[in-house]
Amino acid sequence: MTQVDPEGPNSDQIEFWNGDGGRKFIKYQHALDVMIGPFGDAAMAKLEVQQGEVALDVGCGCGATTIELARQVGSRGEAVGVDISEIMLARAEDVAAHAEATNVFFEHADVETSPLHRDSFDIAFSRFGVMFFQNPVTAFSNIARVLHDKGRIGFACWQPIDKNPWLGLQMQAVLPFVDPPEPMPADAPGPFSLADPDRIRQVLSESGFTDINVDGFTPDIILGATHDLDDAVDFGLEMGPAGTLLEGADDGTIAKATAAVRSALAPHHGAEGVKVGAAAWIVTARRG
Ligand SMILES: C[S@@+](CC[C@H](N)C(=O)[O-])C[C@H]1O[C@@H](n2cnc3c(N)ncnc32)[C@H](O)[C@@H]1O
Repeated sequence: MTQVDPEGPNSDQIEFWNGDGGRKFIKYQHALDVMIGPFGDAAMAKLEVQQGEVALDVGCGCGATTIELARQVGSRGEAVGVDISEIMLARAEDVAAHAEATNVFFEHADVETSPLHRDSFDIAFSRFGVMFFQNPVTAFSNIARVLHDKGRIGFACWQPIDKNPWLGLQMQAVLPFVDPPEPMPADAPGPFSLADPDRIRQVLSESGFTDINVDGFTPDIILGATHDLDDAVDFGLEMGPAGTLLEGADDGTIAKATAAVRSALAPHHGAEGVKVGAAAWIVTARRG
């Protein structure tokens, strides 16, 4: 049963994650799980997940973290992944079936607008799934509402793009060949909407959370989770802000952008692959 209103406040995100955004994520799912895995692991570790707990995975995407939460809560617990993307949830269902995970459930829901059906979660978790809300306080209040009194939240969100060369290098490289991106407010829904730690604290406290901790986490990333420079270039051209800027570009533009991205990434290429910096916030809080 769908609870997602395609005309609601998050209509642009619903279209994106059910369209090209979701399709690219599915295509690179295995690489992404390797690349952003440590950020989810760091947030999950801070949550100190206990056996028997019931966990909510917000913006669960293709489900790897929901399955990991299910493993950590054990057979007496449950993990529920919610997402606005039907195509990513379909992949998540497949992965969970393959993993024979019996305590994992998925729900097609917009965390901001949907009446989430359970209201007895011990923990809410997200790996980069909480930056896309049109009205973050409404969304985080909805999450607080379904948590037990003193329930915990833990999530990873990106620091600003200039601290994330794994996304920024390609974007800078393609900019000379495309129309400049439309100026957007820093807090507009998107990967960097929670880049300012003061905003994170404000949004969470207005949503009913307390004991808010925002810690930096800055591991390097192997771009595309591959040793191969050309594969890393392909990944860099498709995913993230560079991929968005190049959508609908003609062959000539793509050729120039490919050469520029290759030149930008080559100096970072070594035995492990293209190794570049990344920076996220690992945030924890509890329902106040
Ligand atoms: C960057 S992806 C992260 C996916 C997944 N957590 C992972 O780490 O692989 C962001 C996810 O948030 C989901 N999302 C965005 N807005 C949402 C909303 N309002 N309610 C539920 N999910 C949402 C998207 O559909 C997408 O799957």
